[in-house]
Amino acid sequence: MNADLILYNIGQLVTSRELSNGEIEIIEDGYIAIKDGRISALGSGNIPKELISFKTSLKDARKCVVTPGLIDCHTHLVHFGSRENELTHKIEGKSYLEILKKKDGISKTVKETGEATVHQLVEKAKKTLDKMLFFGITTVESKSGYGLTLENEKKQLEVNKILASHHPVDIVSTFMGAHTIPEKYLNNREKFIKEIIEMLPKIKEENLAEFCDIYCEKGIFTLEESREILLVAKELGFKLKLHTDIMNNQGGAKLAAEIGAVSTSHLIHTDEEGMNALAQSGTIAELLPGVSFNIGEPYASARKFIANGVEIALSTDYNPGSCPTENLQLIMQLAASQMKITSNQIFKAVTINAAKAIGRQDIIGSIEVGKKADLVVFDAPNIDYILYHFGTNHAKYVYKNGSLIVNKRHLYY
Ligand code: NIG
Ligand code: FE
Repeated sequence: MNADLILYNIGQLVTSRELSNGEIEIIEDGYIAIKDGRISALGSGNIPKELISFKTSLKDARKCVVTPGLIDCHTHLVHFGSRENELTHKIEGKSYLEILKKKDGISKTVKETGEATVHQLVEKAKKTLDKMLFFGITTVESKSGYGLTLENEKKQLEVNKILASHHPVDIVSTFMGAHTIPEKYLNNREKFIKEIIEMLPKIKEENLAEFCDIYCEKGIFTLEESREILLVAKELGFKLKLHTDIMNNQGGAKLAAEIGAVSTSHLIHTDEEGMNALAQSGTIAELLPGVSFNIGEPYASARKFIANGVEIALSTDYNPGSCPTENLQLIMQLAASQMKITSNQIFKAVTINAAKAIGRQDIIGSIEVGKKADLVVFDAPNIDYILYHFGTNHAKYVYKNGSLIVNKRHLYY
């Protein structure tokens, strides 16, 4: 079959197809053929003649690295305002939870997001998505959780819907009404939990979110409260996610496994029992080294998770508090330098495993015939170079559904 476009002379083609040893495949001297926005063929060496017609565009990758479009499987994309006021608190040594207990932290963002119009939220999130595209991100999971009332949670999720149809980056929408307990409910937690449970069918009815997430942590939502909310969500057909074990271990990872969560995040203080449970249930561990870097907590034990048979994903956790960065490449570089996992494991964690973390592994996350032609050409001779040369953007071209939309750091959409 003739291709619309063929990328050839690829130095390292990271297909992200999984090999039997747990690594992902990397082809030297590769080519990729694209037809109607999908991958139609790939291989190494000479391009088969039958793929080329007079209409086929040929693009020389000049020995660069090509990977699947990166997937940011955990973000708090939609919010208003920013929190640089927390910098002084952090420098003074206040912890993330101490800041959160004041009128700062999440509550400040809740207030500013509540006051913003849909238009303002869309405009801000679009700018963020453009930056993410520059870094090679072509799919983003986006959570609510800065609303905390039905009206404002719905507003955030409506913004996801608008972005999904107005921006080339694909959006996966998550309801996270149980992100924190609003101050006025601190002495009446049961009432807030009841309200969240009542929100769930309304969010589902309007098809505003595919996933339900919660922040299960000592001082936020207890294990029992988290189980209660997530089981109702599951019954209604939501897929499940769970933030947990950021400051201490209260068994959140085990809970994620028990209720069949697709993925669970942070996991800084998860013990071996929790890891084994995740390995058994096949729940993806989303590790977020940017948060550790920014709030001064330890890094999650990525190597132990892998050694215990858990599949890990890496993500920015982009949000205005614990990790205000759009730079997934920096997160990957932190995973190399701080978590000490290999480049093969890191690229797996932002492609096929990140796709699994949002239930999209059948259409994205690897370069395989039939999958979307979401691709990144990195200006680098090999994947080690991308992780070793840190703090810069190596993405040179980004293709979404086979169309070139970032060309040498200029947007074309
Ligand atoms: O994933 N842990 C809770 N939620 C976010 C932070 C949100 C915020 O600080 O605004 C997180 O780190
Ligand atoms: Fe988060």
